[in-house]
Amino acid sequence: MTSGSSASSLLSQLTLEEKAALCLGRDIWHAGGVERLGIPTIVMSDGPHGLRRQPDGGDIVGIGGSVPATCFPTASALGSSWDPELARRIGAAVADEALVQDVDVVLGPGINIKRSPLCGRNFEYVSEDPLLSGVIGAAIVDGIQGQGVGACVKHFAVNNQETDRVRVSADVDERALREIYLPAFERVITQARPWTVMCSYNLVNGVPASQHHVLLTEILRDEWGFDGLVMSDWGAVADRVAAVAAGLDLEMPPNSGISDVAIVDAVRSGALDESLLDASVARVLALVDRAPKAGPAQADSFNADAHHLLAREAAAECAVLLKNDDATLPLQPSPGDTIAVIGEFARTPRYQGAGSSQVNAIRIDEPLAEFRSAVPEGVDVVFAPGFGIGETERDDLLASEAVDVARRAGTVVLFLGLPAIDESEGYDRVHLELPANQVALVPRLAEVNPRLVVVLANGSAVQVAGWGSHAKAILECWLSGQAAGGAIADLLLGRVAPSGRLAETLPLRLQDTPSYLNFPGELGHVRYGEGVFVGYRGFDAVDRDVSYPFGHGLSYTMFEYANPRTSVSGSAETDDLRVTVQAEVTNTGSMRGREVVQLYVENPRSAVARPIRELRGFSKVDLAPGQSTTVAFSLGARDFSYWSVQRHGWVIDPGRYGLAIGASSRDIRLTDQVDVEIPSASAQLDGNSSLEEWMSDPEGAAALRKAIDESGASAEALADEELIRVIGNFPIARLTVFPGFGITKEILDKLGL
Ligand code: GLC
Repeated sequence: MTSGSSASSLLSQLTLEEKAALCLGRDIWHAGGVERLGIPTIVMSDGPHGLRRQPDGGDIVGIGGSVPATCFPTASALGSSWDPELARRIGAAVADEALVQDVDVVLGPGINIKRSPLCGRNFEYVSEDPLLSGVIGAAIVDGIQGQGVGACVKHFAVNNQETDRVRVSADVDERALREIYLPAFERVITQARPWTVMCSYNLVNGVPASQHHVLLTEILRDEWGFDGLVMSDWGAVADRVAAVAAGLDLEMPPNSGISDVAIVDAVRSGALDESLLDASVARVLALVDRAPKAGPAQADSFNADAHHLLAREAAAECAVLLKNDDATLPLQPSPGDTIAVIGEFARTPRYQGAGSSQVNAIRIDEPLAEFRSAVPEGVDVVFAPGFGIGETERDDLLASEAVDVARRAGTVVLFLGLPAIDESEGYDRVHLELPANQVALVPRLAEVNPRLVVVLANGSAVQVAGWGSHAKAILECWLSGQAAGGAIADLLLGRVAPSGRLAETLPLRLQDTPSYLNFPGELGHVRYGEGVFVGYRGFDAVDRDVSYPFGHGLSYTMFEYANPRTSVSGSAETDDLRVTVQAEVTNTGSMRGREVVQLYVENPRSAVARPIRELRGFSKVDLAPGQSTTVAFSLGARDFSYWSVQRHGWVIDPGRYGLAIGASSRDIRLTDQVDVEIPSASAQLDGNSSLEEWMSDPEGAAALRKAIDESGASAEALADEELIRVIGNFPIARLTVFPGFGITKEILDKLGL
């Protein structure tokens, strides 16, 4: 209907009022549509881990119900799979369900960085690390769009908390913005080319994201080449005219009678160049053109059983085995054994988070029932709730009952987790603890039965310190969707070996988190004071102990790493540096298993403060007992670079970089190194450059000595190392105040300063 050329002819046929209206949605879930010209509307719908289709009316908080759909693991679980292929398959499955429901654009994935574990929406986000977030996010977009449905990567950008989310200004320095908060979006945009991007609610350094020209046009479009449509988060537009000028194409939902009128008035008064409006309208028309187009169902049905099996496979792959003392897991019960299953979450599973992503799950596996049906004939499974969800007055009775059940069992499986009220879109958490009634139960059970296995259901990091030592094994299952119950049974009984790895650090205490002193901010501002030191980058920088580090996860087998080797081609100077790192990985255990081999680049001392190590590659391998494979990583210049706030670009410092291959960020198995040579690019020296900077730059020092010689002054002072140490940090243009030193105005003139 509106192919490229016809889009421009359509544009010429639209009135100003129609163009303005096209830059607003039609209602909470529809956009486009000009009946007079036969332009159809398109349908958008949440949500990242399952379709939240509201055919009639709707809301952004997930209270109003939605069409039944498969509820897959939420992003924090999917991020723990470290498996982009799995993420892609889930994206495709969500898109298949979207086609049945005439949805043209799925509003996901959410890939904001987990700056603090307190963020209420962390269950909807992938990781504290930009590479992992970007790889998983791009795979989800690939999966969705591979089915002919649009994706919408969100929330662009620096949306890392729920507190005051619509008004707060994320005050973030340029390096942290470029090295931490934008790279995941950059990877998704440049590699998966999403049809749409959703801007975030918050301000970035004082400017609303919905009208942030640098973000929406200069970076997103001019630098990264994004050619799709930018829509607002629902209600995120502060000034619709300024938003058009900044590159925001579509306001959702429509602020009809206000935004469209403002656009028309602004164009008529000359305050808004009509070409900017036309550019947005063209992108709306292009989206309508590429959408599967709401209307007759693109597909009559989807295979709900197959999707449920995928959800079960995924939930198992997302689980992280944090500890497994005495190889307690997998359980191998025999007839006559008794296993106590304790915890209300075994009967009332928590499998997703609250808010706009909330799916009306087609079915829900109850962990207790699934476990009962999975154990061998003759094994007795006895249940006790143990606690109420949240604080309840019956806790003492429930706890005593649970202790009795545990005492009589051979093994105890205890289901713990965060109540739904503790984490949601719209507000942040205030602590990391599990509810007191749950924490109090752990030592009481361990006292009567030390064979205690804990299964966790939570959307983001919880504090394990304080109770974790009482458990033999801890399985972190996150919020893993409608099939989590079956997956947990598969994992506990060894049908599937756990292969998840932490996508976020589990700190010992909230106070240890890098953002602690600056979260969630105050008086409309949140200062990103930790800079690039987010997550493991921060914990490592201060050598802080953690409960479990980024990238950690155990399996039911063991893996050996050997034979690291590195080859280098090209160079940073010719901008074609390529570093290939390889190693062998072998399954040395007795069970098949999957290992996530992680590659970290360890930065040398540099002109700027840099993280000790940064994830620059990972590979998930599936190995039978005794089987080996070669893992290979290919690094480019960007993997060794930092963002220079002087040059406003990526810079590599010369030096020796470590190449650390490990099973987690703190379990490094192999190391190698690579020397990156950078010809001493003459520093950008000026009058404000210090004497030390002039002297440490070969060309600068030569020019300075030459200028001094030509002026007939003495250069002796420059040879005095003690003197240089004391006044070397003075800007060279200030040194004329010390006549005895020999830097005169004549010399500054000769240097062109
Ligand atoms: C919400 C969320 C966004 C969601 C949108 C539509 O407020 O921030 O992620 O897609 O509104 O429900």
